[in-house]
This record gives sequence, structure tokens and C-alpha cells, in this order.
Amino acid sequence: MALSLHDDLDTAAVRADFPVLAQPTRSGGPLVFLDSAASSQKPRQVLDAMTTFYETEFANVHRGVYGLAEMATARLEAARAAVARFIGAASAEEIIFTKNATEALNLVARSWGAANLGPDDAVVLSHLEHHANIVPWFQLQAERGFEIRWIPVGADGLLDLSTLDELLDGAKLLSVTAMSNVTGALPPIRQLTDAAHAAGALVCLDACQYVPHLACDLEALDVDFAAFSGHKMCGPTGIGVLWSRAELLDAMPPFLGGGGMILDVRLDGFTPDVAPAKFEAGTPPIAEAVGLHAAIDYLNAIGMERVRAHEVHLTEYTLRVLDERLGDRLTVHGPPEATERGGVFSLDLHGVHAHDVSQVLDEDGVCIRPGHHCAKPLMRVLGVNATARASVYIYNDESDVDALAASLERAADFFAF
Ligand code: ALA
Repeated sequence: MALSLHDDLDTAAVRADFPVLAQPTRSGGPLVFLDSAASSQKPRQVLDAMTTFYETEFANVHRGVYGLAEMATARLEAARAAVARFIGAASAEEIIFTKNATEALNLVARSWGAANLGPDDAVVLSHLEHHANIVPWFQLQAERGFEIRWIPVGADGLLDLSTLDELLDGAKLLSVTAMSNVTGALPPIRQLTDAAHAAGALVCLDACQYVPHLACDLEALDVDFAAFSGHKMCGPTGIGVLWSRAELLDAMPPFLGGGGMILDVRLDGFTPDVAPAKFEAGTPPIAEAVGLHAAIDYLNAIGMERVRAHEVHLTEYTLRVLDERLGDRLTVHGPPEATERGGVFSLDLHGVHAHDVSQVLDEDGVCIRPGHHCAKPLMRVLGVNATARASVYIYNDESDVDALAASLERAADFFAF
């Protein structure tokens, strides 16, 4: 989808949909919420959809034959279809609801990985990865003995692809983030996919930070698995998504066992159902799926091209304002160009620990996240223990960035030595 760089998002109207943003802060000023990379806030439309569902339509799904149960099942399946349309999946049957993106990535490792990886194989990851796309592969490696290889990050904050063909040689899977949760760096997904497929490897995308912020067309990206969470895209916590192509899902063994994922259970074994039921043991996140559906409707009403254009604009503004006001007192990690990154800013205020920065900012009502952001290998590449991370979304505007810059100046002055 072509990118319109004209930012015409009415952020005041968007903000009015998010009740939490109207809450008073201890500073007495407005809440400056700059932690959407950790979890986004929820609009009234999502909260209302879930409340209405619980008040008028709730029952367990895929079991009861009474009207309420049929209604709840229809709502769950409508959510599945909405997710499929939102990411360009071929059918709703390719959408697996999980607890979160972490569970979705563990599903790929424990189901596809356990069935396909052995001592002679290799999995390629990158230095940009979140622990959720690292630890499951280490856990499986301990049992299966395959090799793990790493795509490095270059000085420009982007993936260094100079040795990509070598890294992919003989690999069975490339599993990479679609957008770094630390720096916002956007890897060239289609280029990676083409190279991986040419080498005979499948591609798994950690799309947690991508799906909420950019129009997603899985067919155009040509990946084989994609995982993301509901809670970073205006939806509730407790629901994530794994997408894969039907033929891959058909060939994969179940991940978790229990009710809802079987065709038959006998004294000598069981027969699994087909996807998606095969991968959805137990009662699924039903109200959460209704909330995620409402979140998708909300984002679609804005338009994902508009979301991206707004974030490119705000990213350009943030990089410029932080440079003008903090200069060489501050490092902003990651790619320097707004078009090569999402609106995630890992900040290093020189001489001040990220936790101290965040505490001063909190006094001003500015919410950011300090720490390693579940990406310790990348922290080591950046040469830091932690960063103070600010991240923007549809309800942020220039005033939030100005408040961030002012509060960073105050922190720099307060801790000056
Ligand atoms: N993965 C989330 C983050 O980056 C929680 O903060």
C-alpha cells in the first residue's frame, strides 16, 4: 500500500475516545502517555463492546446449542474473520487466537520447530529481537541441538544484511521482528523473505510492533508465520494472534492439549481437530476477541495509512525537537530517518540512569518505560544496560513531544554534575 505522507489525523478527536487520557495526573497537568510500545490505551468503543458483550451476549463458545452460546460463537468467529481481513490472510481458518504474541511464537517453536528442526539445521534470528523471539528457540535448541545464527545490526541501526546469504545457507527458518520494540527500526521484510525462501527457509515474523502501526498485507510480505498481540493495537490484554498458511497449519502437531482441540479421545490416544481449533485448547479469549474486533474496526475507521503517516510525521518532529533542545546531552538510538523506523525512541540522557530519567518524567505526568525492554542482546549491541523508551501512537501529538523534551531538559539539569 502506498504511503501518504500527509498527516491529517485529528488527534484531538482520537484523544477524546480514550477515557484514561482524561485522568488527572499527580502533576496536575495532562497525562502524557508515551508507552504504547509496551501497551496501548483503549478507546471507549473497545471498552463498550466488551461490556455489552458480557452484559447481553456472553456464554462459552463452540459447545452450547442455545441461542446465547450460538451468538457468542458467532461473535468469536466474526472477530477471527476481521483479524484475517486486517492482516491480509487468505481465510479466517488461518487465524489462531492465543494468550499473547509470546504464546504465538512459542507455538511456532514448540509445534513447527519441534517437528522440523534437528541437529543439522539452523534458525536465523537478528540482534533486534525481543526475548519472546529468542528464548523459545534457545529452549528448543537445548532439546534438538540445531544452530542459532544472528543477523547483526549496523551502525545505522538497521539490520546489516551483508552476510545474509551466508547466514541463510542451510537454514530452515528465519524468525525476525517486523519492527524493533527498542529503536523502531523497520527491517526490509520482503527482501528478507525473498532471500530466506531462495535459501529454502521459512519466515516467521514477530509483528507485535508492526500490525498496530502499519497497514499489513501478509500476501505482499510473503511470510509464513506472523505473531502479534491485541493489547498494543487498542485491544485488550489476554489475546494474541498467530497467523500461518493453511497448509503449514495442517501439517503442524497441536501445541497445547485439552478440550476444544480434538476430534476424538479414546483410551489409547486422541485425534486432533483441524486448524484453528487444533491450536486453541480450552476456553478461548472470547470477550477479548470481541474487544480486538472493536479495536480493528476503530483502526480501520481511522485508516492504517493515516496511522502510519501520523507516526512518520510525529517521529520526524520528535527527532528534530529532541536534537534542538537536548543536543549532545542525549542519544536517540536507532535509524536517523523517520521513514526507516516507527515511533519508538530509546533515549540515553548522558550520565543519568534510565530509571532516574523515568522517575523525573513521571513527576511531570510523562509516562515512558525504562529498562532493557526484553531485548538484552540488543542492549549489549548498543553498549547500554538500559534506555528510557518513549513511544507514540494515534492519540499523541506535538504537545506530548514538547512535554517529553521539557521534562528531559529538567532531568538533565537536575542530575547535572
Ligand atoms: N514487549 C513490550 C515492550 O516492548 C512489553 O515494552
